[in-house]
This record gives sequence, C-alpha cells and structure tokens, in this order.
Amino acid sequence: MRNFIAFNPVRLHFGKKVVNDLGSSAASLGKKALLVYGGGSVLRNGSYKDTLVQLKTQGIAVTEYNGIKPNPRVEDVNEAAGIGRNEEVDIVVAVGGGSVIDSAKIITICIAEGCDAWKVMTGKYNPASALPLIAVLTIAATGTEMNAVAVLQNSETKEKIGYHNVLIYPVHSFLDPSYTLSVPADYTAYGVVDLVAHSLEAWFGEGEATLSDRFVISVIKEALEFGPELMRDTGNYELRANIMWAATNALNNLTMYGRESGDWGVHALGHVLSFLYDTAHGATLSIIYPAWMKVLKERAGDRILQLGKELFGTSDVDQTIEAMESFFKLLGSPLKCQEVGIETSRKEEILSLMNRDQAGGMNFKLSDKEREELLEYMF
Ligand code: NZQ
Ligand code: ZN
Repeated sequence: MRNFIAFNPVRLHFGKKVVNDLGSSAASLGKKALLVYGGGSVLRNGSYKDTLVQLKTQGIAVTEYNGIKPNPRVEDVNEAAGIGRNEEVDIVVAVGGGSVIDSAKIITICIAEGCDAWKVMTGKYNPASALPLIAVLTIAATGTEMNAVAVLQNSETKEKIGYHNVLIYPVHSFLDPSYTLSVPADYTAYGVVDLVAHSLEAWFGEGEATLSDRFVISVIKEALEFGPELMRDTGNYELRANIMWAATNALNNLTMYGRESGDWGVHALGHVLSFLYDTAHGATLSIIYPAWMKVLKERAGDRILQLGKELFGTSDVDQTIEAMESFFKLLGSPLKCQEVGIETSRKEEILSLMNRDQAGGMNFKLSDKEREELLEYMF
C-alpha cells in the first residue's frame, strides 16, 4: 500500500428537500452570491427556484450567470468570473451537473485572484485562494460534488483537460435525488457509465490496495444492479438515490487511497472525442473502455481477470470485456463511434489529436501503435 493522506472537507447533504438548509449554509459564508447554471434544465426541475428562494430568504444578493455548456468552455468561465468580480460577490453557488459545478470551481479561483482560467487549468498560475463554493447537483455522474477536480475545454488550444486543487472542494454540496428524476434516458445512462468508468480508472491504477479494490467492486455492483432497473423506471426515487450516492463515491478519493493514482487513460482519450465532436462524456467512456481493455488484454490481463471474477464470476479476460460491453449496451450507451454520429472518415483526425496529446493513462501508458489499434476497436 502507498502512503496517503485521507482528506475530504465537503459537507454533503443528501436526500429529499435537503436544499432547505442551503440558505443558512450560504449565509454563514457570504452576502453576495454568483449563481451559476447551464442551459435551463434547472429551471424545469425546481432546483433553481428552491436555491433562489433559499438565498433570498437569507437576504443574500444574487447575480446570475447562465449558459454553461456540457463539455464546458474556458471562455464562459472567464466571462462569469469577470461578472463576479465586478459585482464583488463573496460566494459562488452552482446549480446543475458536472459541467456547471466544474466551471464554478474555477470561477471561485478566478474571482478571488483575478486570474485567467486557462492559466489556472494548465498550472501556469498557482492560486492561493478561492471563494467558497456551494453545489446543488442535478445529475448523477461525475463525482465533482465531493472532489477537488474540474474539467474544462479550450477551443484555441484544442484541449479538454482536468485540474486538481484542494481549494476547489465545494464547502457544501446538496444532493436531492428528486432533482435527477428529470434527467433524460441518454444522460441517465451516461451517468451510470461515468461512475463505472471512474471505478475502473481507480482499479487500473498503480499499486496494491485491497480495501480500495473492495470499494471499487462495491460501487460497480451498485451500478450493475440498479443501473438497468433505473433505465426501465427512470421516475423511481430510490433507484435515482442509489445511483446518485454510488456516483459520488466513485470519485471522492475512497476508491484510490493506497494507490499511486488511478489510470485515467480512458478519460484522457475520451476528452479528445468530446473536444472534437462535443460527444457527451459518458458516451465517450462506453465507447473507449471496452476498446482500451481489448488493447491492454495482455498488459493489464491480471487486473481484467480479477475484475471479471469479482463482478461477473468469470475467469476469462474476453468474457469480462464482453460482459462490460453488454452492460453498457443494456443501459443504452454507445459502444461504437458511429452510434454518436462520428464516421470512419474521422479516424485520422482523432488519432492525430490523441497522438499530439499522447493521450493515455498514468499507469498504463499507450504507444502510438496502441492508440492506432484502439481506434480500430472504437469503430
Ligand atoms: O445545461 P442544462 O440545461 O442544465 O442540461 C444538462 C446538460 O444538457 C442536463 N441536465 C443536468 N441535470 C438535469 C439535466 N437535464 C434534465 N434534468 C436534470 N436534472 O444534462 C446535460 C449534461 O450535463 P453535464 O453537466 O454536462 O453532465 P455531467 O454531470 O455528466 O458532467 C459532464 C462534465 O463533467 C466532466 C466531464 O468531462 C464533462 O465535461 N467531468 C468532471 C469530473 C470531475 N469534476 O471530477 C470527472 C469526470 O470524469 C468528468 O470528466
Ligand atoms: Zn468521468
């Protein structure tokens, strides 16, 4: 087992109506809030209204920034931060999914420090402070509500990258599964895929950590059991709750203590598709994870085998990969690029960006030849 520091400062409120405590939580942190959200889903599922009422009741002044896109853009983050600085807000409240919360995380730094968001993302600017962040999560997927990661993309540099800093942990995260009842079937499936992929990235990280392995298996088992049920019954609160809590635990450090890190190769490869074609994050993962396992059948064979035994009761690497593919298919998430409208004529474009970034993992580094092989499995 590797050395580690176990740390997670997020006060996570989970369950029906937990947002009723948002106002008092916010009041102890600030007086002027920047309220950040996306394309409007929060206006329809009640989360925006509930949050606004909470802030207003406590006399907190609110400035809004909306229009954060899925696969969030750095220019929106800079724009929002500029507005927040002008208004001298002292707290940021994010209502939405991973894209909104990730954007808000970087906004908290840029307001506090007056810096450029991409310089932060690329590590060229090292921030010393951030405004407090409150997150109201409306979709189960990324785990951003309880971690210190943000992912943004930049159309100028043609990159989608992640950033980690303990300054960006939300102070409070509110998770009412009722808000996720309105998530459409495709994004519901992508969320389940994402939480499985996070668990797998941890699983394929370097080092031995048996308890972390058992957490990984437990989280994936939640997805295997409740994911397909939820796809058949998307209005079921209990199923939404199970998946939401599983998604949080898939990426709140619990599955990685004792390992060097996760692998994160499939995420890095998936970000290339998201950047190029605006493909939803979870869809990139269901396409690439099986392909990645096929390429690494020999190199990661032992780990794939162990996974197969724990999850599917098989002692065969191919059967393990097939079982994972069948699961993604059962959810309705794509296995091939063509299913999300990416045609074979795009192969070269994808490969060249993947090779430019040397996209691949931290534990299992891919060669250019392996990336080429991977691409064939993706179509
Ligand atoms: O924009 P709106 O109108 O809000 O609609 C969103 C969006 O179209 C919609 N949605 C959200 N909640 C809804 C809803 N629709 C109906 N009812 C609701 N209750 O869902 C769509 C997707 O939203 P998004 O925030 O993009 O989804 P997700 O939470 O999957 O976030 C994906 C982003 O997070 C990054 C991904 O790369 C991607 O950019 N990730 C962040 C991570 C982290 N911070 O730890 C780790 C992940 O691996 C991931 O990379
Ligand atoms: Zn992910």
